[in-house]
Amino acid sequence: MSLPVTLTDVSRAFRMPGEATRNGRRMRTGRRTASLGSPATAPGTAAPATRAVLRGVDLVLPAGGITAVIGPSGCGKSTLLRLIGGLDTPSTGTITLGEAPVTGTDERLAIGFQEPRLLPWRSLAANVAIGLPSSTARADGAARVAELLDLVGLTASAHLRPCQVSGGMAQRVSLARALARRPEVLLLDEPFGALDALTRLRMQEELLRVHAAQPTTVLLVTHDVEEALYLADQVVVLRTLAPDERDASIARVVTVPADRPRDRADSRLADLRADLLEELGVPTHHGTPALV
Ligand SMILES: Nc1ncnc2c1ncn2[C@@H]1O[C@H](COP(=O)(O)OP(=O)(O)O)[C@@H](O)[C@H]1O
Ligand SMILES: [Mg+2]
Repeated sequence: MSLPVTLTDVSRAFRMPGEATRNGRRMRTGRRTASLGSPATAPGTAAPATRAVLRGVDLVLPAGGITAVIGPSGCGKSTLLRLIGGLDTPSTGTITLGEAPVTGTDERLAIGFQEPRLLPWRSLAANVAIGLPSSTARADGAARVAELLDLVGLTASAHLRPCQVSGGMAQRVSLARALARRPEVLLLDEPFGALDALTRLRMQEELLRVHAAQPTTVLLVTHDVEEALYLADQVVVLRTLAPDERDASIARVVTVPADRPRDRADSRLADLRADLLEELGVPTHHGTPALV
C-alpha cells in the first residue's frame, strides 16, 4: 500500500534567534512571542525577525512514485522532509497523507537519514527490529527482520555490530529499519550522501529493487542531480529564498521521461542533467546532441 502526499501553499519561516527589529534596526529581544510566518519586520513595531525558508509550496507526491528534491545547501530540503514527516509544523498551509492532515509523526510513514543512526551495542538484526511496530509479536518480528535482511543482502551479517561493518552496509541496515513497518510513505534525506561513489550506485539499485518489491511513496532528498534523474519519476528543484523575495520556493518540477530500469547513459537524462545543473548555477559545457 502507498499513500499520496499533498502539500498546499506550505510555508515555513524560522525565528532568527535572540533578535528583533524595529524600523529595520536590530535589537535584542527579551521575550519570544513571534507568530511564525510573519514577514521579517513589521515597520514601527518590535517583532522578532523571521526568515522564510519555504514559501508557497504546492506539491503532490503521487502514491507509489519516487519524487526527488534537489537544490542548493540550505534551501530547505530537510525542512520540507521534516514537515511531511510530522517532525516540524508548517507556518502556513496544509499537508495531507492520503486524506488526513499531518499532525505529527505517523506509523504509516518512515524516515531515513544521511547518517545511519544505528545503536552501536546492538546487532544489525536488532537494529532493523527497532523499526517494527511496537505491537509486533516476537515470531512475526523475527520473520520480518529476516525478510528485510535478505532484501538488503545482509542475512550473513545479521549478528554483527555496526562497528564491524562498512558504511554501505550500515546504510542498508538503516534502509531496512525504515522499511520494517511497511511504510506507505518513505522519506529519505540524502541517504547515500556519505558513501563512496561505487557504493552509492549500488545503493541506488538497492533502493529501486526494494521499491519494486514493496511499492511505497518515496521522497528522496539528494544533492546529486544524476541520482535524482536515475531514480525519480519527478524531480523538484528548490531555490534559496532571498530575504526580500516574494516568489515561491519551487523553482521547477521536472517529469523524468524514461522508464525503469534506466540507462544511466540515456541521452534524455544527460540533457536533463545539463539543464538542471545550469539551473543550479553549474556550467556543464554539454553540447547539443548531434542529429543522426
Ligand atoms: N529549527 C530551525 N531554526 C532556525 N533555522 C532553521 C531551523 N531548521 C532549519 N533552519 C534554517 O533553514 C534553512 C534550510 O535548512 P535545511 O532545510 O536544513 O536546508 P537543506 O536541507 O536544503 O540544506 C537553513 O538556513 C537553516 O539554517
Ligand atoms: Mg539537509
